[in-house]
Amino acid sequence: MTKVYGILAHPAGHSLSPAMFNAAFDASGIDAEYRIFDEADLGRFLELSRDLSGLSVSLPYKEKVVEHLNFVSEDVKAIGACNTVKIEDGRLSGFNTDWVGFLEALARPVSGLRVVVLGAGGAARAIVYGLVKEGAKVVVLNRTVEKAKKLAEEFSCEGFGGLPDLSKFECDILVQATSAGVSSRSDVLVDVEYLKRVRPVVFDIVYKPLITLLLETARNVGCEIITGEKMLLNQAVKQFEIWFGREAPKEVMRGALVENLK
Ligand code: ATR
Repeated sequence: MTKVYGILAHPAGHSLSPAMFNAAFDASGIDAEYRIFDEADLGRFLELSRDLSGLSVSLPYKEKVVEHLNFVSEDVKAIGACNTVKIEDGRLSGFNTDWVGFLEALARPVSGLRVVVLGAGGAARAIVYGLVKEGAKVVVLNRTVEKAKKLAEEFSCEGFGGLPDLSKFECDILVQATSAGVSSRSDVLVDVEYLKRVRPVVFDIVYKPLITLLLETARNVGCEIITGEKMLLNQAVKQFEIWFGREAPKEVMRGALVENLK
């Protein structure tokens, strides 16, 4: 019988996950389909979802889904958010692949590196968790300083502050993990003089547009840049591996993603 997977989000209309996963299922000869579940009623949906095989969970449900799960991984407990649900015999197990997806996208050892993370929301939480776990020295800066403080304390970071405090912290890697960048305004978060002086690797987790104003500015002053679709791809690759216990056809998934980002 064809297994059913899908993305649970609201709104979910523009998700790139169906393209990535359906291409992956085809390439792997897996009898499954991946749908969009754009649901307004989380509890009711999960009650009815026990015949499904797995879910990718996105905004606004990554945190709220946790209380409905039968099992949660250590990562989910620590981060307080779940982006991957595996369903077996009607039991829901929750995992988080966002932090691994982020680290794989960085594609370098981070132990001992100084990393400034802009943002203290759900995405930033997973990123900070992964960075600290790998031994990076992390500073969290956020529009609402209190949230940066709380996140930094929870994960034993090196420091915290408001966004204007960036100039006080030298760093090797700068991560833009606020949702301000979604409206292409991430440039307003970072002063070009800082980029020129410090020359960090700049990673913007936003993938629409692929080259955000922040990345364009950073590239123009000679910084190495990392685009957000790499995190999206790598978290999906890890989801596939959790669901099927085998290696994902990453290049096929990358192709489908890039094609749909155009
Ligand atoms: P996500 O899951 O994408 O991280 P979130 O949990 O709603 O979404 O968090 C959004 C993050 O973007 C927060 O760090 C938020 O800052 P506040 O904590 O001060 O709200 C940040 N953010 C959103 N819009 C912003 C803006 N215009 N300027 C600066 N930061 C912004």
